[in-house]
Amino acid sequence: MCGIVAYVGPKEAAPLILEGLRRLEYRGYDSAGIAVRSDAGGGTLAVVRCEGKLARLEEAVRRAPPSGTRGVGHTRWATHGRPSERNAHPPQVGRVAVVHNGIIENHLEVRRRLEGQGRTFASETDTEIAAHLLDEALAAGASLVEAMRRAVRQIEGSYALAAVDARTGDRLVVAKNASPLILGIGDGEMFAASDIPAILPYTNRVIPLEEGELAELTRDGVRIEDAAGRPVSRAVRRIDWSPLQAEKGGFKHFMLKEIHEQPRAVEDTLRGRIVADRTGVFLEGAELDDETARSLHRVVLVACGTSFHAAMSGQRWLEGLAGVPAVAELASEFRGREPIVGEHDLVVAVSQSGETIDTLAAAKLARERGARILAVANVLDSAIPRAAHGSLYTHAGPEIGVASTKCFVAQLAALALLALRLGSARGRLDAGGLAELTAALLRIPGRMREAIARNSGVETLGRALASAPNWLYLGRGRSYPIALEGALKLKEISYIHAEGYAAGEMKHGPIALIDRNVPVVAVVPHDEQFEKMMGNVHEVHAREARVVAVTDREDPELRTLSEEVLTVGETLPAFSPFLTVLPLQLLAYHIADFKGTDVDQPRNLAKTVTVE
Ligand code: F6R
Repeated sequence: MCGIVAYVGPKEAAPLILEGLRRLEYRGYDSAGIAVRSDAGGGTLAVVRCEGKLARLEEAVRRAPPSGTRGVGHTRWATHGRPSERNAHPPQVGRVAVVHNGIIENHLEVRRRLEGQGRTFASETDTEIAAHLLDEALAAGASLVEAMRRAVRQIEGSYALAAVDARTGDRLVVAKNASPLILGIGDGEMFAASDIPAILPYTNRVIPLEEGELAELTRDGVRIEDAAGRPVSRAVRRIDWSPLQAEKGGFKHFMLKEIHEQPRAVEDTLRGRIVADRTGVFLEGAELDDETARSLHRVVLVACGTSFHAAMSGQRWLEGLAGVPAVAELASEFRGREPIVGEHDLVVAVSQSGETIDTLAAAKLARERGARILAVANVLDSAIPRAAHGSLYTHAGPEIGVASTKCFVAQLAALALLALRLGSARGRLDAGGLAELTAALLRIPGRMREAIARNSGVETLGRALASAPNWLYLGRGRSYPIALEGALKLKEISYIHAEGYAAGEMKHGPIALIDRNVPVVAVVPHDEQFEKMMGNVHEVHAREARVVAVTDREDPELRTLSEEVLTVGETLPAFSPFLTVLPLQLLAYHIADFKGTDVDQPRNLAKTVTVE
């Protein structure tokens, strides 16, 4: 996730673009840059790029302001190429500069072809190929819009692109596929941006571009065309949000926005990693070739908090789908003993921030003892990936809410991919089995969208239960980590005491807590554990607990035993955690919001725990 802004009009472009980027900084802050076209000398581009937060770019622009009335800007959340000035956008090739939000899946292939033609690359980014493709077409005499048409025909993946050309004085060109891009219609000026907040101070009239569309922006208007080059006419929408509301996408809190962004986080994490015929999983950067995959004796997953719950799900997939012995360990406990790990172990360090001190220390300890380390992280080039042999990045974009939601499901996606990769390399999954699982995984984002929409009404349930001081969350098998995660979400943002428990353990102690004041959230999808879970639901119902059941489809028996049944829809049983976690996040959110806690920054918690 990155933020892009483009402006064409009568005013100085640089301050407007910087202001727009400031409102998009929640989308990324690894580096920032702008390109402004000036009329001087028949048209020149001034490009300024800086590593780090936008403030550094603002400072650089203050020192040497680029003058001109059209330009593009970018704030980066790194996905390909470490955060650095060299990898900052916009890359400029010849007379053209371009900014990009998204992931170009075939960038290596295109790069090889372009290098074969003698082109040299200045960065490690996937985006730079777009600049070269534009330059190639411009050099062959194409107009800027034609150059963009030709470029996007050669690009696979997700993109919102905005290009400025030194010689094309009066217009900018933008294109979109699977990354957001909004056009802002001003009075004698036009904008484009990844999100509405960037343009809201200047205009509330917008046109969201649709997949495969391309647009030319001049001072006086926009011309939109579809992927086949046919002109498209689109109604202008009026937005009546305040700028702060807009930054949260109209949601009351970042956490709620991020809950809704989860399908996209999973989509982006899967993107480009499942080969087209679905019979292969390709994990660039993970450094797990077939021989290495086959030589592993065991996988040990180390993590903290919510990431630990994702690791527990990963353990179940690694055992069940890849047939490899696996164990999930709390990083703080792992590093606090004398763990037995060695050269045939793969230690997977799962951390959204990539900086958590215990997870980092666990990974380093395992590495010292000869294990191979794989980082699953959301922040490119953070400490844990740097300490690892290979990395498997999640592509959730920056998560602002302290309580993790979209990073969690992105971790699930990465770990499911890892299990499929090892399962196929080790011969546990044949082509047919792998194709069935990958197809189901690719359908997950759509199912998640439906499940979120279906459960938006949990607000009423949250209000009804918000005064209960103690909660129990129960699950078995793949639903046990989800029960733990549901309980953690509730306690961290609503400050209500909640226990997550393996349902099979209930009779061994926690059943003593049950009475009519205790809500019991039972995660009961129709899988191989269903009958046993129903036994637990009967037991707590008999003790008058207020049962909230989370299941995949309606079930009359469950309905009679429960105060509320939250259904999430069906998928392959293996992948139910992607769906069952969603109502639990929403329930915790609505209870916390009803109680009036600081949802996005709960007391005593920090987003990144770099102290012991
Ligand atoms: C809870 C939460 C934390 C983190 C934990 C590990 O919502 O976000 O429990 O999961 O602090 O952080 P990372 O994933 O950055 O290692």
